[in-house]
Amino acid sequence: MSSSMLLQLCAAALAGFMITILLKFELVNGAQARLNTDKTRATLVSIGQELGVSGWGLQSSYDFCSWPGITCDVESGNSTVQKLDLSNRSLRGNLTVIAELESLKSLDLSSNGFHGPVPPELGNLSALEFLDLSFNYFDGSIPRELGNLINLRFLNLSSNLLVGEIPHELRNLEKLLEFQVSSNNLSGPIPLWLGKLSSLRVFSAYKNEFDGMIPENIGLFSELEMLNLHSNHLQGPIPKSIFASGKLEVLILTQNRLTGEIPEDIGHCTSLSSVRIGNNKLVGNLPIAIGNCSSLTYFEADNNILSGEIASDIARCSNITLLNLASNSFTGTIPSEFGNLLNLQELILSSNDLSGDIPLSIIMCKNLSKLDLSDNRFNSSIPKEICEMPRLQFLYLDQNSMRGEIPREIGNCVKLLELQISRNYLTGNIPSEIGHLKNLQISLNLSFNNLHGPLPPDLGRLDKLVSLDVSNNQLSGSIPSEFRGMLSLIEVNFSNNLLIGPVPRFGPFQKCPNSSFSGNRGLCGEPLLTSCQGSFGNDHENRHGASYRTIAAIVGSGLAVFASITIVVFLFMMRERQEMVANSKSEGAIEEEKADTRPTIEAGDVFIDNLKQAIDLEAVVKATLKDSNKLMTGTFSTVYRAMMPSGLIILVKKLRCMDRTVIHHRNKMIRELERLSRLSHDNLMQPIGFVIYEDVALLLHHYLPNGTLAQLLHKSSGETEYKPEWPLRLSIAIGVAQGLAFLHHVAVIHLDISSANVLLDLNFKPLLGEIEISKLLDPSRGTASISAVAGSFGYIPPEYAYTMQVTAPGNVYSYGVILLEILTTRLPVDEGLGEDVDLVKWVHSAPTRGDTPEQILDARLSTVSFSWRKEMLAALKVALLCTDSVPAKRPKMKKVVEMLQEIEQS
Ligand SMILES: *[C@@H]1O[C@H](CO)[C@@H](O)[C@H](O)[C@H]1NC(C)=O
Ligand SMILES: *[C@@H]1O[C@H](CO)[C@@H](O)[C@H](O)[C@H]1NC(C)=O
Ligand SMILES: *[C@@H]1O[C@H](CO)[C@@H](O)[C@H](O)[C@H]1NC(C)=O
Repeated sequence: MSSSMLLQLCAAALAGFMITILLKFELVNGAQARLNTDKTRATLVSIGQELGVSGWGLQSSYDFCSWPGITCDVESGNSTVQKLDLSNRSLRGNLTVIAELESLKSLDLSSNGFHGPVPPELGNLSALEFLDLSFNYFDGSIPRELGNLINLRFLNLSSNLLVGEIPHELRNLEKLLEFQVSSNNLSGPIPLWLGKLSSLRVFSAYKNEFDGMIPENIGLFSELEMLNLHSNHLQGPIPKSIFASGKLEVLILTQNRLTGEIPEDIGHCTSLSSVRIGNNKLVGNLPIAIGNCSSLTYFEADNNILSGEIASDIARCSNITLLNLASNSFTGTIPSEFGNLLNLQELILSSNDLSGDIPLSIIMCKNLSKLDLSDNRFNSSIPKEICEMPRLQFLYLDQNSMRGEIPREIGNCVKLLELQISRNYLTGNIPSEIGHLKNLQISLNLSFNNLHGPLPPDLGRLDKLVSLDVSNNQLSGSIPSEFRGMLSLIEVNFSNNLLIGPVPRFGPFQKCPNSSFSGNRGLCGEPLLTSCQGSFGNDHENRHGASYRTIAAIVGSGLAVFASITIVVFLFMMRERQEMVANSKSEGAIEEEKADTRPTIEAGDVFIDNLKQAIDLEAVVKATLKDSNKLMTGTFSTVYRAMMPSGLIILVKKLRCMDRTVIHHRNKMIRELERLSRLSHDNLMQPIGFVIYEDVALLLHHYLPNGTLAQLLHKSSGETEYKPEWPLRLSIAIGVAQGLAFLHHVAVIHLDISSANVLLDLNFKPLLGEIEISKLLDPSRGTASISAVAGSFGYIPPEYAYTMQVTAPGNVYSYGVILLEILTTRLPVDEGLGEDVDLVKWVHSAPTRGDTPEQILDARLSTVSFSWRKEMLAALKVALLCTDSVPAKRPKMKKVVEMLQEIEQS
């Protein structure tokens, strides 16, 4: 053997040895890794079980890195879980186990149903950089243990039920970039150490109970970009430090008790785009330096005590779209430089002490849609050029000292929706050109001026106008019969003028109180007590014109639908007759025997264990026999309120359509009910139990005190005229969509979607009701009487007229109608819509009528702020998609939810 061969052998042996060693090493290492992996997997399985995460369990694939919501660290090769995204999955349960995932860097549990305190164990996740617990129901205080998360860069605890102070320990979170705790019940001061967090870019703590001062060092050591503290009880001045780095983009401090002046330092912030500091007690001038904020688009400082002249420097902020300085003590005139604000859309200066004229330069603001100068001391005439602003929709000049005549050119403001010029010293006639303002719909108020001469008959062309007030002038002549063309009128006031003759016979006039016509010696006719002595009034022929048209339109809007409704009404009438027979029988019974003749319960159950004690099924039946307990009558059921002997109040739904087939399949029905009660979704109203006797089925539900969405939107006669604001409406729309999307996900088609079947809980969370109807009375199962029905009038999809079948796209259509109701505050079938009594048709035909979207949306909401209007317009698009006449073009509910959530977040 040569030495070289020996060498080779040795080398080979050595290599083999090395490989063995390496292999052994690998094996040990691999075993260790597998052990870790098994442990992690076990932890994840138990998290999955505890929280109810679908797709996480022993049956799932071995590689947990592929489970939904999990991201692993691939670099290290040994499968450590780095990121958990479990947002919006309707999860609840105990989170403590999550703390075992030690290498977690990102944890998103937002938009779920978690209750109780935030587990302090989360403080053990020392690698965590991102923690989002927002939109849950966490209560108690913020655990101080979160202060251990020293790598945290993003912490979001907003929209929970947290109380107490921000714990001192969080001062250790030196890397924090974004800190959000808005919409909780947190109190105490905004901590001083917040100013020392040198990485902080975003701090958002709005809608809490914070008091004390804004720390005077906030923003001093960091490049603060956004500070949002609105709706708290903060006092003291706006600290200069906020503007120190010059990086601030958004400042929102609305609705606090802030005092002192607006710091000149605001001028450092060239990227500042939005400033909202209204509803405080700020004093002093508008700082001159504001002119340096070249990015400013939104400046709102209304309802403060600001004074002095309005600094013309603000006109250097050429990007401004909204300027609201209303309800302050500004004096002097409107700077003529305002004509440079070419992007201005809303100028709101009402309730100040401004005087002089309206500068003519203002007509350069071609994008202006709202000009509100009311309640000042302007004393010029109304410039005849005012309508050279082609987009003007709202013109408020009321409560000033304006003189001269109303210019004829006012007729050129073709986009005008509302004209308020009351309480001035205007003279002359009412120009008939006002009748050209075809879009005028919210209000025309000319009251408390010195106008004289006749009422121009052309005003009768304002067929969209809702409110007309010409009271307290010196108008003479008679009320022209042409005024009956104002088909949308709800409110009129002709009082305190010199009018004569009969009040034209016209529904809206007859409905007005006497006071709308009083103070005119010469007026006579029906709404007044003075009769016209037979000499006037030959106008009977038109009397019912409008209502005939309405009825014709209802009938015309779908004969097939009408026919199906007739069938249903007929069926109900038959059933009602049977009930009457049954009732008269029981009435014939002797009073004291009544208790004994109470029907015997054949089957019944309460599905929820901790309610079993509190619900007495006998008492449930008894409650439904009393008419005084009746809450409402729906398409398929009558709803009762039932007080249990335990004091618990529940809702009981008595099914009206219990035909033999249903009874025949009783066991199947009970199984369905039990299944439904387990279908857990926050936005569905699930049965909590049932009772069956004779051919009656009673379904038990939680009692929801806030009534239905229909009541919330359309209740008008009630004590309070409260109309829900846009964010609430949007969240309701999203909730309903989520509930319906879930139903479709589990292959349930709803049979009666309407705003009357959306119930609201204490927090106005919507719950879609009548879902069991869909399951129990499924037309495909041969319950014939129901197959004639497709829900409530106004919500029925057009294709139903020929298919006679309710489908998922049909549900989407009905949902779209609810969304339109939410956006317009109009009924799905509304006489006020003129020829198109159908809300869907009315909205879809807006472009052909020449209506802008603004004229469709509820103006009380869409004019509140740009962001609301933007969101409402976006939601309107969704509603239009949903109500497309072609079923295949409508989006799926899941997509609808996504689109609406996007709107909410933008
Ligand atoms: C959860 O909702 C957020 C916003 O609310 C959205 O961005 C995200 O896509 C949703 N995730 C899931 C899993 O639905
Ligand atoms: C009005 O606003 C639009 C954007 O909405 C803009 O494109 C246009 O330039 C503005 N008009 C003027 C006169 O600046
Ligand atoms: C019209 O304006 C006057 C005075 O500004 C006000 O009192 C009155 O209520 C307004 N009319 C209507 C119908 O709103």
